[in-house]
Amino acid sequence: MGTLSKDKIYSFEKSTKLFERATKVIPGGIYGHQSPVLCVPGSFPYFIEKAEGSRFWDVDGNEYIDYMCAYGPMVVGYNNPRVEQAARKQQEILNVSNLPGPLWVELAERLVKQIPIADWVAFAKNGSDITTWSLQLAREYTKKKKVLVAKSTYHGTHAWCTPLPPGVTPEDRANIVFFQWNDLDDFMKKYEANKNDFAGVIVTPFRHEAFENSAMPGPEYYKTIRKVCDDSNAIMIMDDVRCSLRLNLGGSNEYFGFKPDMICMSKAVANGHPLSVGAASAKLKGVASAVYFTGTYWSASPPMAAAMATLDELEEKDGVAYMDRIGKMLMDGLQKLAANHGLQVTTSGPGAIPYMTFANEKDFRRMQLFSAEATKRGVFFHPHHNWFVSTAHTEDDIKQTLEISDVAFEIVKKKFGS
Ligand SMILES: Cc1ncc(COP(=O)(O)O)c(C=O)c1O
Repeated sequence: MGTLSKDKIYSFEKSTKLFERATKVIPGGIYGHQSPVLCVPGSFPYFIEKAEGSRFWDVDGNEYIDYMCAYGPMVVGYNNPRVEQAARKQQEILNVSNLPGPLWVELAERLVKQIPIADWVAFAKNGSDITTWSLQLAREYTKKKKVLVAKSTYHGTHAWCTPLPPGVTPEDRANIVFFQWNDLDDFMKKYEANKNDFAGVIVTPFRHEAFENSAMPGPEYYKTIRKVCDDSNAIMIMDDVRCSLRLNLGGSNEYFGFKPDMICMSKAVANGHPLSVGAASAKLKGVASAVYFTGTYWSASPPMAAAMATLDELEEKDGVAYMDRIGKMLMDGLQKLAANHGLQVTTSGPGAIPYMTFANEKDFRRMQLFSAEATKRGVFFHPHHNWFVSTAHTEDDIKQTLEISDVAFEIVKKKFGS
């Protein structure tokens, strides 16, 4: 079965030594979403040496089929030749400079054509750059302050939305009003209480929070939010950072059938080259030129060349349909295997952004053991965060993944029973 073997158990000596060195000179050694504490320390690698297609190799030389895709950016394969050649070629001509290059315009024209709600786009680097700016635009447009945000939804690291309290003051969140995701009664209650100062709403296309199964919205969810925004002349923002280019090239709202005023995109837009995009309708264009928005590296041309090549690749290969199919194949396979072992799992999310948990398990102990045992044999599953597939994942990858998952399920069954 390819180069992976369910009988070979990985060890992580070099990763561990590097991590020990890191803790001496870097806060936490590795911080944020890549911190080892978010996986199962000791059962996962800490550092990656190289990556290619659907696979990566850690610093100990262990090979993995990857189901995190760098937490989303990798969508057409690591080191995709077409994307890398485009970026390299552009790098030789012009990187970051005093002024943007022609790709600034060419990519914007292409995205405006591709995204039905977009009359204009703007570029930055991180998802948080765009989500924060989108709130500023809503406030400037409406001259109102309150933005409704679904509770415990990740929108980035800035003070209004960071998930952890240290370093945040109540003032940072004074104009954020939290409502329960997918609960329209609660949404309407919060809206009514704030409607005199209501600037808008920010939503993700579906619920994809860590430590939860992914969940789809009810049929009236977006319709109601859209209507409330229209009635108040407020702004509906979709944070598509995590799902960009995986559900629909025109924006994930097309997949769900609604029209936000603004879309925040990042992660997959340049297959790992740093680029984020705000795309919005004409009504926000005036305020978008007024609300100061810039960054030293934001006009760099190589990521824009990478984005063009990523779009070519996805369009030519019908990548969205392919990822849906390959991800569903993975989820169906896991369901069947678990059932063979007398275990119950819940698979959730669209094919391109799949996830699995053990049914009715709140403490994730089965899931942690399952992911650790799969990872130690070369299938990198995150225990607590939705997964991603790419156009580089093959049917053979799924076959090998399921062979290794079979062993991991057996170990879970032995330890926990059904
Ligand atoms: C839905 C969503 N919004 C915003 C962000 C923030 O993006 P970035 O980490 O690039 O700032 C993320 C990152 O994971 C995300 O998943």
